[in-house]
This record gives sequence, structure tokens and C-alpha cells, in this order.
Amino acid sequence: MKTDIPVFDLIDQCEFKIADPFDLNARLFPALEQSLPDKLIGTFETKVYKTWLHLGFNGESLVSVFYNIIADRLQQDRYDGYFDHLSDLEVDTIVSDFRSVVEDEERHREIFYAIIKKLDVDIEGYQPDFYDPNNKDYQESVANGITKNVMGEAVDNPTLLDQLTAILTIETYLLATFSMFYKTTTNENKKLIFKSFLQDESRHVAHFIRLLKQARIPKEHIDQADRRIILNILDNSNFELIALIKYLRDIVKNKDKQSAIINNVYKDTFHQTFKHIYLTKCWQFYNILHPNVSEQEFVKIIDDFDVLNLEYRGRLQ
Ligand SMILES: [Fe+2]
Ligand SMILES: [Fe+2]
Repeated sequence: MKTDIPVFDLIDQCEFKIADPFDLNARLFPALEQSLPDKLIGTFETKVYKTWLHLGFNGESLVSVFYNIIADRLQQDRYDGYFDHLSDLEVDTIVSDFRSVVEDEERHREIFYAIIKKLDVDIEGYQPDFYDPNNKDYQESVANGITKNVMGEAVDNPTLLDQLTAILTIETYLLATFSMFYKTTTNENKKLIFKSFLQDESRHVAHFIRLLKQARIPKEHIDQADRRIILNILDNSNFELIALIKYLRDIVKNKDKQSAIINNVYKDTFHQTFKHIYLTKCWQFYNILHPNVSEQEFVKIIDDFDVLNLEYRGRLQ
């Protein structure tokens, strides 16, 4: 669905400096000031923004291809029987919803592209020519990748449930992030840019939750995927958690100190609000698979993990 907000004109009018590209009303991790020198916080935040923009661009490119593949399979064989019980009309509606989500994602990719172009730095490894939904080689690599991987983890023949829940986690993460940037930017133009993202991503999350509700999911698929779903949710349960752990491991030797810093950093309103938005949405889809798990119980499952002692399936390397 096309937004009324003239996003590209707004981007044209804005400056994007990597130290604070979205003009937030505070730094991303203000509580780090109690533990680290200013220069190191600056280095870390710059790194976070670069990675976030790069991942955003790659992610939007990926889903622009991926969602079309899912829609095609729905049309061809109703995706392994998950949607056998639906009428042709119902399937056609889902497929056309998917096509409009793809239009949004292609626009999002262009938005990230336009912002990155205006940055005052280059991003290492950024390859917009390859990560292009119209590039046949890229389409092939996506089609291949999704039959072997779920969120970077090797999985043999992922089920539609694996794929949908991975997508939902990342859509929800983006929604929570856009929402926080929308709330805390001091620049009215950038606020509107995030508003347009926010409107789209909340529609997408609603679309995928509806889809998950409509699907008839074999119980063994739920059992197989359950731990992976929780771990995927955990990855993003605090804003840029993995990036922060990785950075702290490099510069702070003592584990107790790392743990104290992490606990302190995520206590402020920005991070607590982020977490609340993210986990509430994640619970809404987890609850479709596990109707007996309340939101409170779900949050406890997530909170009971010791985030410092997880390996994040190789993502810390
Ligand atoms: Fe998107
Ligand atoms: Fe999306």
C-alpha cells in the first residue's frame, strides 16, 4: 500500500550523520556513560548505526524476494498443505496481500538506499548492486538460502512455520525499532519517515499474524521449531543486544562487570519501551502456537535466560 508521506523528498531535505543519523533526543545507550569513556561509546554507537542501516538494507532486499517466493508456493501447492482447507478465493486474498507487502518492502529498500547514500561515511561490505531484488543471481541465492537456513542457522528443509516465525521476529524487531526512533527523534522530517515505516511494518506484522492463525500447522512442526523460535525472539529482546555483548567482550575483561553494564544499560525508558513493544507483539504470535502461555509467562521464559552466557548460534563471532 502506498504511503501519503513524501518519504523521498523528506530524505532529500535531511542530513544523515553517522554519529546520530536520526537526531534522537538522547544517545542510544546513555547509561554506558557510567562505565565507559565517551570516545568508546561514540565508537560503539557509530558501529551500531552502520550495522543497523546495512542490515536494514539487506533485510528489506531479502524479504522483497522471499515474500514473493512464499506467495508463489501458496498459489502452487498451498504450501505443504498448511492452507489446504482454504478456498481459492481465500488463497487469492492472501497472495494479493503478500504482493502488496512486497511493494512496501521494495520501497523500504529504496528508503534505506537513499539514506545510506546521504551518509557522511561509507559502509564496509555494502553491495547494493548485488542485493537487488531484480538481480537474477541474488534471487537465486535467496531461493537457495531459505531451503537451508533459518535466521543464519543451518536447518534442513525449514518448514513454513520456521520461516514465518523467523520473519515475524524480524518484522517485529523492525517495528519496535522504528517505533522508538519515531518517538525519540527531534527532527520532524525524520519523524515522518519513521511514521511511514511504522504504518507499513504494523500492517506486515498483522498480515503475518493473520496468516499464522489461518494456517493448519502440524503439531510436530511446532515441537521441532519451539526452541529455535524462543532463541530467535531472544536475539532481539533488547535493542542491539548481540552487538553490545560483542563489544563489551572486546573491551571489558571481567564477566561480572560485563553483566552489570548490560543490566544497567537496558533499564532506561527507551530500552524498556522497546522491549515491551517487541515482546508484546512476539507473544501475540507465540500465543497462536501455544494458547495456554500467558504474556506474563512468556516474558518470564525470555527473562530467565542468562543473555551473557548464550552463544547466539555463531552470531557473536
Ligand atoms: Fe520493511
Ligand atoms: Fe516488513
